Amino acid sequence: MLEYDPFSPEVLNDPYPIYRRLREEAPVYHIEAYDSYALSRFEDIWDTSNDSERFTVEQGTSAPQLLSKVLPVFPNLNHMDPPHHTDLRKRIAHFFTPRAVEAFEQPIRSFFRERLEEVLAEGRCDVVGDLAFPVSARVACIAMGFPLPDIPDLIDLVRRFFRREPGVVGMTSDGIEAYEAMQTYVQDLTRERRARGVEADNPVDTLIGVNEIAGSEPPEDIRASHLMLLLLGSTETFPKTFASALFRLWQHPDQLAEVRADPGLLPGAFDEVLRYDMPTQFLGRTTLCDVSLHGVTIPAGRPVLLLYPSGNRDDREFERPDEFDIHRCPSRIVTFGQGVHRCMGVHFAKLEGRILLEEILQALADYTVDEGAIERERTEFVQGFTRLPIEFQAR
Ligand code: HEM
Repeated sequence: MLEYDPFSPEVLNDPYPIYRRLREEAPVYHIEAYDSYALSRFEDIWDTSNDSERFTVEQGTSAPQLLSKVLPVFPNLNHMDPPHHTDLRKRIAHFFTPRAVEAFEQPIRSFFRERLEEVLAEGRCDVVGDLAFPVSARVACIAMGFPLPDIPDLIDLVRRFFRREPGVVGMTSDGIEAYEAMQTYVQDLTRERRARGVEADNPVDTLIGVNEIAGSEPPEDIRASHLMLLLLGSTETFPKTFASALFRLWQHPDQLAEVRADPGLLPGAFDEVLRYDMPTQFLGRTTLCDVSLHGVTIPAGRPVLLLYPSGNRDDREFERPDEFDIHRCPSRIVTFGQGVHRCMGVHFAKLEGRILLEEILQALADYTVDEGAIERERTEFVQGFTRLPIEFQAR
């Protein structure tokens, strides 16, 4: 009997076996406990992400909104349908183009080199906490327009928001407190910057300065919610993916040797990590009408979960999907979503991935992962390394 519950210990421990069964046996799976549906095949996730006519994001997209309903839904960019979404996204899209993002190459490289210098003498570091998180948080703050001195506090809030505890289904009370603290932080920031007048040319100030969303002046909590999305979206997933990259390359020494010999292979290798180890287990939609798929009719008004890591391992789309292969170069993956809500930070994530891999492989002639000291987050929302200690020759 096939049973899928995104909060069950079995799924949290290793979702891939059950994702395979879902794709084969029940590609539109009804989760009774939440009267919701899960889509596990690549094509269905892709098509649904592209379909803003029959699916809405206005009821929220994450598990705490769609399933456990412990978080409210504010109409931020990720929770708005066209045409209001289109208008708002257009206002900040130019900050995220490949050209705009390229300007961050040198600052990212220099800051990462400084971080590396600090750990090189130790002969050991935690890839997530010592290297990747400080870089992604700093890039997020500079690129989005959050104050740099607030970085340590913001990292702490983001990490608490995503953390889960064994025995607690979904978000912890501490995670909800962290969410509320983030909300207070962004509301204060909004108030203070509005009082001073919009200053800088960045996404945060642009969003704070928007005087009309959906035909009226947005209240303070909605302005703040746009900033929350930028903060959460830009900081959490990258460190897990970068840690996975070092882990997978270490597990595949032949492929590690190839990228060392030819760093031109690194962008493809990072893309493969994005496919193979997609951290976000799902985001979702709500049906606006009855939707029939593979013989199942999903009634209007039901949450539909898009199981991204399952789509990325679907053998209808990928040959040998469970093999890690840096030469794969697939034409599409679902890691960044698709359609009008496709991740705005794609180019940031890819640039950071390439630069950090180039720099670390150049700085370390060799490294080993201290497997016994690895820590992973196994949550219904985001999975991956929270601590990846590596050892290398000190210098
Ligand atoms: C490995 C890193 C990342 C992954 C896996 C990722 C994943 C995603 C996914 C799956 C979506 C689609 C949501 C949906 O369809 O409902 C999304 C949206 C979004 N992402 Fe990312 N993201 C990453 C990095 C970033 C970064 C670095 C930024 C900012 C610099 C960012 C900003 C956003 C924003 C603003 C949206 C909302 C877009 C919209 O709804 O129109 N993301 N991301």
